[in-house]
Amino acid sequence: MNAADANSRSVSVQVRGLRKSFDGQPVLFGIDLDIQPGEIFVIMGPSGSGKSVLLKHIIGLESPDEGTILIEGQPIDSPGVMDKFRMAMVFQSGALLNSLTVGENVGLYLTEHRLKPPAEIARVVAEKLELVGLKGLEERNPSELSGGMKKRVAIARALVIEPQLVLYDEPTSELDPLSAVTIGEEILNLNQRTHATSIVVTHDRDLAFGVADRMAIILEGRIVFVGTPDETRRAPDPAIQKFLTSDFSFKPKSKL
Ligand SMILES: Nc1ncnc2c1ncn2[C@@H]1O[C@H](COP(=O)(O)OP(=O)(O)OP(=O)(O)O)[C@@H](O)[C@H]1O
Ligand SMILES: [Mg+2]
Repeated sequence: MNAADANSRSVSVQVRGLRKSFDGQPVLFGIDLDIQPGEIFVIMGPSGSGKSVLLKHIIGLESPDEGTILIEGQPIDSPGVMDKFRMAMVFQSGALLNSLTVGENVGLYLTEHRLKPPAEIARVVAEKLELVGLKGLEERNPSELSGGMKKRVAIARALVIEPQLVLYDEPTSELDPLSAVTIGEEILNLNQRTHATSIVVTHDRDLAFGVADRMAIILEGRIVFVGTPDETRRAPDPAIQKFLTSDFSFKPKSKL
């Protein structure tokens, strides 16, 4: 296999014995996961269960107290490993820069690293914005966009690096149900088009069951189940069923 092939391949991710505490408070209690190249793997769990912390470890933004993360079998804390693979994260907040236009946000990586001439960057930015349904919005300021549009800009920005691994943190939070469905469809389309391994962290059960090839349930810092959506629906653990079937919606005041 030549270098170009190795470089365009999607990657496997393994998490081995990951433990993490903050100020003596344990948050992750020994996480083990095996994520296959090209799959959409969903990590689902309630608020505060440790999903974002886990994702930050996978992309190297947090370092474990104990345990290892491996990409294609290579520990990410070994020299040069993080530079070998192209990874992108769509942050829970979107994390767009308000001082830049939408187009500048999307092209930031290419501009900062002087990877392409400006005309070529403009072409790539236009292409990625079109992919996420935001054609022609280059000149807008992020502050002029709805929450759903900001999420899509964040996805376009992640796509610019042609990632082998994409991590999505709560891609549908703050969105209405219809926009949430659109984002779910985009995650599926992009996975089919780019074959990038996709890890989606969410407490949105509809999104999880809609996009997952396989899913893991995390409760209070422990992975309690891994399986296909069908296997997860049939999981016998009462704590999992409680999480999957609870009605979190507010009851109308008149019915209380
Ligand atoms: N940098 C940090 N310092 C101290 N505590 C932290 C830090 N980051 C996360 N935590 C704690 O770790 C726990 C898990 O947080 P995390 O952000 O992973 O939850 P989550 O599952 O992503 O929740 P949500 O669904 O609300 O996003 C929380 O109790 C949080 O307060
Ligand atoms: Mg989170």
